[in-house]
Amino acid sequence: MSEPLLSGRNLRKAYDRTSALDAAWFDLSAGEIVAVTGRSGSGKSTLMLCLAGVLRPDSGEVSFDGVRVDRLSEAERSLLRRREFGLVLQFGQLLPELTVDDNVALPLLLDGRPRRDARSAARMWLERFGVAELALARPGQLSGGELQRVALARALVTGPRIVFADEPTGALDSAGTQQVLELVLDTARHEGMSVVLVTHDNTVAAFADREVVLADGCTTSVSAFGPGAS
Ligand SMILES: Nc1ncnc2c1ncn2[C@@H]1O[C@H](COP(=O)(O)OP(=O)(O)OP(=O)(O)O)[C@@H](O)[C@H]1O
Ligand SMILES: [Mg+2]
Repeated sequence: MSEPLLSGRNLRKAYDRTSALDAAWFDLSAGEIVAVTGRSGSGKSTLMLCLAGVLRPDSGEVSFDGVRVDRLSEAERSLLRRREFGLVLQFGQLLPELTVDDNVALPLLLDGRPRRDARSAARMWLERFGVAELALARPGQLSGGELQRVALARALVTGPRIVFADEPTGALDSAGTQQVLELVLDTARHEGMSVVLVTHDNTVAAFADREVVLADGCTTSVSAFGPGAS
C-alpha cells in the first residue's frame, strides 16, 4: 500500500494544563478531501495546526511526503507551509495594513514571483470567489463572509498540495457556503490537491470524501461518505 501524503500518529498537545490533543491519529492521501469534525473544544483546530506545521505536537509524529514535520525547525516549517500548504485559519490571518489584493498576492511575492504576476493571480482568485470589487479595500472594511472568501483565495493562489481550512464558511449563508465549497473542492479535484476541512457543521462535512471525528482530543471514528456510510 502507498504511504499517505500526510499523517499524524498518536499526537498529543497541551496548552499549559489543558490537554487539547490526546492520542489523535490522522491520514490523508493525495487528492483526498477529509473533514475533521467534533464538538467545540474537541481539538479540531489544534489537530489542524499540528498537521500543518504551525504548532509542534508535544509528542507523536507528523509526516508529509516522507518528511518528519514535527522534527523541523520553526524556519523549516514556515518554508514548508509557504511552498506546499494553503492555510485558512479560524480567526483570520489577513494583514490589516495591506489591501485585499496584496493580501492574496503575498504568498506569491514571498516566494519571489514578480509583482505583476502575483497581482494578476490574486485578481483571478478574487474574481472566482466573487469579491473582485473588493481588491483595493482593506480587511477591516469587509464583512465576515467577504473575509472568508478572501482568505480562501489567498490559500489557493499558490496552487498548494494541501489546503487546510478551519471553519472556512462559518460566516457565510447556506447558498454562499455551497458556492464557496464547490469552488474549493472542484479546484482541488481538478488540480489533485488534498483538503483538510475543519468544521462543526454536518452539511459542510458531507462535501468531503471522508470524516474524522474528534472527542476530547482523541480521534473516535473515521467514516466514509457515500453508499454504505451511516
Ligand atoms: N491557545 C490556547 N491556550 C490555552 N488553551 C487552548 C488554546 N487553544 C485551545 N485551547 C484549549 O484546547 C482545547 C481544544 O481547542 P481547539 O481550539 O483545538 O478546539 P476546536 O475543536 O477547534 O473548538 P472550536 O469548534 O470551538 O473551534 C480546548 O479545551 C481549548 O480551550
Ligand atoms: Mg477551532
